[in-house]
Amino acid sequence: MHFLITAGPTREPIDPVRYLSNRSSGKMGYAIAEAALEAGHQVTLLSGPVVISAPEGATLIRVETAKEMYDAVSECIPGCDVAVFCAAVADYRVETVAGEKIKKLADRLTLTLVKNPDILGSARSVFGFGGILVGFAAETTDLARHAVEKLERKQCDLLVANDVSRTDIAFDREVNEVTLFFRNGSQENLPLSSKREIAHTLITRIESLR
Ligand code: PMT
Repeated sequence: MHFLITAGPTREPIDPVRYLSNRSSGKMGYAIAEAALEAGHQVTLLSGPVVISAPEGATLIRVETAKEMYDAVSECIPGCDVAVFCAAVADYRVETVAGEKIKKLADRLTLTLVKNPDILGSARSVFGFGGILVGFAAETTDLARHAVEKLERKQCDLLVANDVSRTDIAFDREVNEVTLFFRNGSQENLPLSSKREIAHTLITRIESLR
């Protein structure tokens, strides 16, 4: 199968020097890309700015902003059988990006933020994607409730939820612990283990949805 995988953060510029971003090293998404390749699949990896290297064999597309990620997904998704949205996309961007470095003259600075497009939420409704759709949920409270709500609202087949209030897993860690929520209502906990192990199990579960 051909996998489209988003990974890493997006960066939303404020001025030529500063930006808004989310915490994400890309490790989880890159591990999924590697596991998919090892299972014999084709992988297009759409990545925000990270310092890790893409697995050999993946077609890597680098983007910076959520808008760029949206455009790249829109272009690539029609040729894919599976789309896995692991990126930590910034939900908001600055309405007007300053052309020059903002001088720190005032004690307070107010930025007006506007909502970025919901890329995962557009997969079915805007891009018309009919393949296997896998979303992630980064939650700090009520993990199961939020995950099920995202699974339904974004029309996913599978939602991978992690508790990002924990400092021992998820952001920038080598390990994670996730709960899988399936469209048929079933759930599966993948206990604390390396992102590589979690990625391999995830690929197996995705294959069984085929
Ligand atoms: O990169 P690491 O350091 O290894 O950390 C991994 C991780 C914690 C970033 C990863 O496991 C994870 O949880 N990724 C999803 C982060 C996130 O943005 O979750 P969310 O609950 O805010 O978003 C829900 C889903 O919608 C996600 O699939 C996200 O990619 C997608 N989304 C969100 C906003 C947006 N504008 N467009 C989107 O497509």
